[in-house]
Amino acid sequence: MIVDEIDINEQIGEVGKILGSQEKKRGILIHALHQIQGDNGYLPEDVLKRLSKNLSLSLSEIYSVASFYKMFHFKPRGRKIVRVCLGTACYVRGSKKVLTTLENEFNVKNGETTEDLAMTLETVGCVGCCGLAPVSTINEDIIGEIVGEKKIETLISSIKEE
Ligand code: FES
Repeated sequence: MIVDEIDINEQIGEVGKILGSQEKKRGILIHALHQIQGDNGYLPEDVLKRLSKNLSLSLSEIYSVASFYKMFHFKPRGRKIVRVCLGTACYVRGSKKVLTTLENEFNVKNGETTEDLAMTLETVGCVGCCGLAPVSTINEDIIGEIVGEKKIETLISSIKEE
């Protein structure tokens, strides 16, 4: 795994000649974090501790960089990432009700993952499909016009589908 194999000079290449060692380490940190998240689905603390040792960067410095970016996650995530759009078009067409229904159905709050890691529930500002409002996504799939009980039931079934 990359955490144990990082060769800073090799990673930085020619640019490394004009950088100090701390700058080099920070330069490859984001790349290493992407790799760790790709391998694990999130950033496990024990792996970050090893990375901290390997790069001689403090753990708090690593957390500080990682938490700046929304794309990094510190807890395991669900196999399905469900996002309810709370952008204006979706909100006025009832997406808050969709969110509440999903929270109750799966017993999670916004930002949480079910215990069996089947799904993570999140909200999003706008996914660019306002004409289909209210919209939710399941991984890369867009589910639009979630109006009425039947459509919400279809959304729930799609989330539960293996
Ligand atoms: S506001 Fe929901 S898709 Fe644009």
